[in-house]
Amino acid sequence: MSRPALLPRTAPFGDAERAHLDAALGSTTALQRAWLAGFLAGLDAASGAVPAEAPAPAAPPRAAEPLTIVFASESGNSEKLAGDVGKLARKNGFKPKVVDFADLDVPALGREKRLVVIAATWGEGEPPARAVRAYGEIMGEGAPRLDGVEFGVLALGDTSYAEFCAIGKRLDARLEELGAKRVLPRVDCDLDFDKPAAAWIKDALKALAPAEPAGNVVAVDFARAGSADEDVEVSREPVTVEVIEHVNLNSSRSDKETIHLALAFEEAAPAYEPGDSLELYPENDPALVDQILRAAGLEGDAALRQALLAERDITTLSAATVERFVKATGHEEARRLIDNGEVRAWIEGRHLIDLIETYPAKLTAQHLSDITRPLPPRAYSIASSRAEVGDEAHLTIAAVRYTTHDRARTGVASVHVADRIRTGAKLKVRVKPNKHFRLPKDPATDVIMVGPGTGVAPFRAFVQERRATEAPGRNWLFFGDRHFTHDFLYQLEWQEALEDGSLARIDVAFSRDQPEKIYVQDRIWEQRRELVAWLDGGAHFYVCGDAKAMAKDVRAALVKAFADVKGLDAAAAEAAVAGLERGHRYQQDVY
Ligand SMILES: Cc1cc2nc3c(=O)[nH]c(=O)nc-3n(C[C@H](O)[C@H](O)[C@H](O)COP(=O)(O)OP(=O)(O)OC[C@H]3O[C@@H](n4cnc5c(N)ncnc54)[C@H](O)[C@@H]3O)c2cc1C
Ligand SMILES: Cc1cc2nc3c(=O)[nH]c(=O)nc-3n(C[C@H](O)[C@H](O)[C@H](O)COP(=O)(O)O)c2cc1C
Repeated sequence: MSRPALLPRTAPFGDAERAHLDAALGSTTALQRAWLAGFLAGLDAASGAVPAEAPAPAAPPRAAEPLTIVFASESGNSEKLAGDVGKLARKNGFKPKVVDFADLDVPALGREKRLVVIAATWGEGEPPARAVRAYGEIMGEGAPRLDGVEFGVLALGDTSYAEFCAIGKRLDARLEELGAKRVLPRVDCDLDFDKPAAAWIKDALKALAPAEPAGNVVAVDFARAGSADEDVEVSREPVTVEVIEHVNLNSSRSDKETIHLALAFEEAAPAYEPGDSLELYPENDPALVDQILRAAGLEGDAALRQALLAERDITTLSAATVERFVKATGHEEARRLIDNGEVRAWIEGRHLIDLIETYPAKLTAQHLSDITRPLPPRAYSIASSRAEVGDEAHLTIAAVRYTTHDRARTGVASVHVADRIRTGAKLKVRVKPNKHFRLPKDPATDVIMVGPGTGVAPFRAFVQERRATEAPGRNWLFFGDRHFTHDFLYQLEWQEALEDGSLARIDVAFSRDQPEKIYVQDRIWEQRRELVAWLDGGAHFYVCGDAKAMAKDVRAALVKAFADVKGLDAAAAEAAVAGLERGHRYQQDVY
């Protein structure tokens, strides 16, 4: 059946043109037509091509509705999603503004009409480092009233953490408490957030859309439309790489094992930058897979074995895993863990195998699939610069081994690499860009790098890049580990770098070489005068590695150094370091 014509005979087109336009527009929705009308009006306005005898539009273009999208992000996931919301919102006739929590003007939030919040949780239920100030202001007593603001929150997290999505949850509750109106329920995403996040974003834009007066025209924001991102888009598709070097950087007498991996791309390396990471898709330990299959009574199912090896997370045990297990099996004793509120304490230090062995039940392959989540890739800082290594990428991976509840445990990805990967093996990886961990734009700027343990990895990339590009700025590295003789990662390379001038200085802290423990923050304190002089001269300061203690201690040492060297009180010294952070001269990549 033919559709009724949209365009009247009086429209300023020939018959053939009218037929074409009718065919093209016949299947569009009202919103798409409104957008198109605004788009064409804006196009002509922007190019000045408004015909002298243009017929008056049926209705004047309505200003695009403002939408503010704020994100709290550490490793870029929330930031990427916020960008996606912005792009989709613009297509849907909004005038979006994407704001990092780092730059958020909290007192002005009350003036917003519509707010999308995308927030990740870090540490143990903490906000991402760049979001700490604004998060504190929103949670604090001086927060503005938000009556009249409509909002929705998308929370990012990882169910393996006890404080799952804590920051998104707290922000969601706080915005309501401040008077804002929640227009759609919060969604808490695990590491496989692509699908739930995309669905939430679609729902959010619907829920936040203003009531549509019929026949109205939406003005398109031409100033921003099509504005390109500053960074070059790097392909996010996983690619296969070949391991061409696999070396343990620790001595055979060390109690640590840190693997240097050199990976060769089959084609040109993706355009990674110093500061980016590679996500590595690991395989589970085959011995653990077999143990799980035995405990579940599912030995001999080859397809399931393969899925458990490469696709499912068979180690993480979260409260959600226990709930899914109880739902699948109806196990009464395991249910009591939940009913008695003991589940959080019980899962501490335990894995899926402990659950299945402690609460035996006949499981099916479908049960195991329902209970587990997809196996997430692990991020590793890239330890090389393409300017020096060409189509390769290098990683520095510390093997994770420990014992809990009398059972020896191994990290999925790090021990896969340490024990089961050798030169010639193939791995699947993809680049994870980090535009908040970048060398200074001006190559003459000095850099100070604090990277104990595997935290040194990105600084190997920084030094390679600055050497290959002959950057005149000075490079100063603080490195630390347990023992000088066993754990000095890339020692020869640093010595060569000192000789060829690509390192101006290196200060090391080997914690267990003397009775009292010495860490990088102690070296920072010792060198505080020189360090503050470098910073006064415009140096950038970088920290990479352990988030739990090291990164906080290093920041505290720098605040103390400012106070001491410049005679500042604690508040002024804190403000000096916060100023470095705001100016993007203090950057960290910690985990
Ligand atoms: C941006 C970024 C960059 C990174 N760069 C690097 C890098 O350059 N090099 C590097 O080695 N790692 C790096 N990591 C960490 C890396 O991604 C992995 O988290 C790490 O290798 C562990 O992964 P896994 O699969 O081996 O261990 P998993 O199977 O994920 O197990 C790790 C978990 O085991 C538990 N655990 C570990 N030790 C103990 C213990 N002693 N007692 C009790 N429980 C314990 C903890 O719950 C921990 O979360 C980076 C992380 C991020 C986010
Ligand atoms: C060191 C570290 C600590 C984390 N802590 C938590 C946590 O306490 N709770 C949680 O739900 N997720 C936690 N996560 C998971 C992150 O929230 C998750 O990876 C998220 O997708 C990161 O988003 P972002 O890239 O926007 O920072 C943690 C991740 C890392 C690497």
